[in-house]
Amino acid sequence: MNVGILTGGGDCPGLNAVIRAVVRHGVEGFDMDVLGIRNGWEGMITGNVEPLTPYSVTGILPRGGTILGTSRTNPFKEKDLPQRVVDNYKKYGLDAIVVVGGEDTLGVADKLGALGINCVGVPKTIDNDISGTDVTFGFDTAVTIATEAIDRLHSTAESHHRIMVVEVMGRHAGWIALHAGIAGGADCILVPEVPFSVEDVCRSLEKRHRKGKTFSIVVVAEGATTTDKAELVTQDDQTDEFGHVRLGGIGQRLGKAIEKESGIETRVTILGHVQRGGSPTPYDRVLATRFGVRAIEAVASSAWGKMVALQGSKIVLVKISDAIKELRHAPRDLYDIASVFFG
Ligand code: F6P
Repeated sequence: MNVGILTGGGDCPGLNAVIRAVVRHGVEGFDMDVLGIRNGWEGMITGNVEPLTPYSVTGILPRGGTILGTSRTNPFKEKDLPQRVVDNYKKYGLDAIVVVGGEDTLGVADKLGALGINCVGVPKTIDNDISGTDVTFGFDTAVTIATEAIDRLHSTAESHHRIMVVEVMGRHAGWIALHAGIAGGADCILVPEVPFSVEDVCRSLEKRHRKGKTFSIVVVAEGATTTDKAELVTQDDQTDEFGHVRLGGIGQRLGKAIEKESGIETRVTILGHVQRGGSPTPYDRVLATRFGVRAIEAVASSAWGKMVALQGSKIVLVKISDAIKELRHAPRDLYDIASVFFG
């Protein structure tokens, strides 16, 4: 069999571990030929491809990013592009494509299935918000980086008697904020799932300060929203090819608002893409490797339209169409556990 592999959307620690597993198991276990498609769906539109061999994936397991490059290209944005994908699929004699991506990249795979392109999906995002799987690889690395940052901010917050606001990623879901916040002992965690008011945040922080604490750590997800819909969230005017605005900046506005309302000196740290860069944790390397191995086995058994997923301790197959129906939000009970330590 002739199998393509592409990585689409924002990069994520563990992508190279998936590529390595797909190539090694595909070539050595199933005698397949594997073609790397560069820069996500863009490579299928322009025909930007490279053969991958066990030799060419040597040493990539611990590396961050993706050796194939990535993009947010949407072939369904223009009328002629899906046909160009189909033409290149035939031109390179592909029997299937392993599509590693989030809800947008996998959504394209789902639609291309109707045009005769055989896809198997692998869920990827540091945000951990894809349905059908308990965890996505990259999440553990992002949480580890964010937790270390919170640990470091504690000592400087304590020394200066300040409030530290830490903005983490999480466009629609508060998984990173809640996990890093709980692990780092945050005094307040703000997530998209639970709208907040600056007044309530300040009352809670003041209560804590009255108890004798002279500093506080506030973790805010970039997509957190306020109950009064105040314009705390900043976003770019431009959208990507899937219609998403670029978020970010809520931390700065929140920091200013907290300082004004509480009178306590406040500083802000935006972790940004540091959470996505660099080497994956051992957990993410293992999960990505398990996903890659299972994905190529799914190709061998013609499980088209399926996505590999972690459910409990097992790697299973779910329908891509089911997984992309709705995002997986952080559960209320996790927020409730975090909030035991607020104030
Ligand atoms: O989807 C993952 C994510 O990290 C989001 O949390 C964030 O909003 C987005 O990607 C930012 O990605 P980029 O800067 O690459 O557009």
